[in-house]
Amino acid sequence: MLLLTGATGLVGSALLRRLTAAGQPVRCLVRDPRRLGAERVRVQIALGDLADPPSFRNAMRGVRTVVHLAAAIRDQRLGSIEELNGIATWRMVQAAERAGVERFVFFSALEASPYNRTRFLRSKALAEAAVRDSGLPSTIFAPSLIYAPGDPWLGLLERLSLLPVMPMSGRGRALFQPIWAEDVADCVAGALSDGAGVGSADGARRFELAGPDTLSHRQLLELALRSFGRQRPILPVPTPIVSRALRAVEAVADGRAFATWDEAELMEVSMTAGSGPRDAQALGVSPQAMAAVLGAQGS
Ligand SMILES: NC(=O)c1ccc[n+]([C@@H]2O[C@H](COP(=O)([O-])OP(=O)(O)OC[C@H]3O[C@@H](n4cnc5c(N)ncnc54)[C@H](OP(=O)(O)O)[C@@H]3O)[C@@H](O)[C@H]2O)c1
Repeated sequence: MLLLTGATGLVGSALLRRLTAAGQPVRCLVRDPRRLGAERVRVQIALGDLADPPSFRNAMRGVRTVVHLAAAIRDQRLGSIEELNGIATWRMVQAAERAGVERFVFFSALEASPYNRTRFLRSKALAEAAVRDSGLPSTIFAPSLIYAPGDPWLGLLERLSLLPVMPMSGRGRALFQPIWAEDVADCVAGALSDGAGVGSADGARRFELAGPDTLSHRQLLELALRSFGRQRPILPVPTPIVSRALRAVEAVADGRAFATWDEAELMEVSMTAGSGPRDAQALGVSPQAMAAVLGAQGS
């Protein structure tokens, strides 16, 4: 049995389709099973929440492999970014050790570091350390920006593109190597089937997942606008103004803000892998260019 968290997310939904198609028994730890769509009848469901450790301890029964994708880039009612990413992963690792899990697959992020300016990347560093320092054979993925057509981030950009100008937080200079969620799911499936991490000297492997192109935040917006078929001038908005405005929106929106400063700040930090798509290629995957996936070729 494989326990999958985050099965309703971008990577999780793409991975789940591959796992069930391959006949792998899967248990999904979810907050709302309806969000699994048609796949919910093909899997075991464990109701749970990252903010509720007993729920995932129970989900661990009879599990040999954990693929832990669930994470948060904004605070939730039941837990902060640090609790949901850092502490929950630490507790999940403990539960996995106690349950005799044989392999723990975890999604960190490029540039995860205890000193990063963003709360998300600091919390991922804590989580990654908990996985790495555990006694469990582990496979850690550190991706750059992950996207899929119509995902919440591109959906937000599409709505913003209805304005006469496209606002951009900051100067748009941070660099990314965007990778399609389907390519990421292929990498995970590849690692699961070849036992990456299991049997290596220290029982741990780390893969940096990056797409073939390095694009600045500004270039990402230009590409997104091309994919929407809209021409808009890009308007850089100084980050102190963005941060104050989004914090004000968060204060009144009660968890339903269209964007938060913690999310916007992630676009201020470059996420690139020195080896580009090489780790993905080692797993048998040639990541596609974002322009090709979104149908935004040309300028
Ligand atoms: N997307 C990126 O650009 C990016 C970059 C670097 C690293 N990563 C990491 O890669 C992994 C996969 O990313 P993704 O883009 O597929 O994520 P995603 O689309 O944002 O999905 C997040 C998943 O986590 C679940 N989740 C959130 N809060 C939860 C909670 N309190 N309890 C239980 N489940 C909860 C969500 O379930 P609900 O359906 O219930 O909301 C959803 O299934 C994540 O660990 C992410 O941090 C992503």
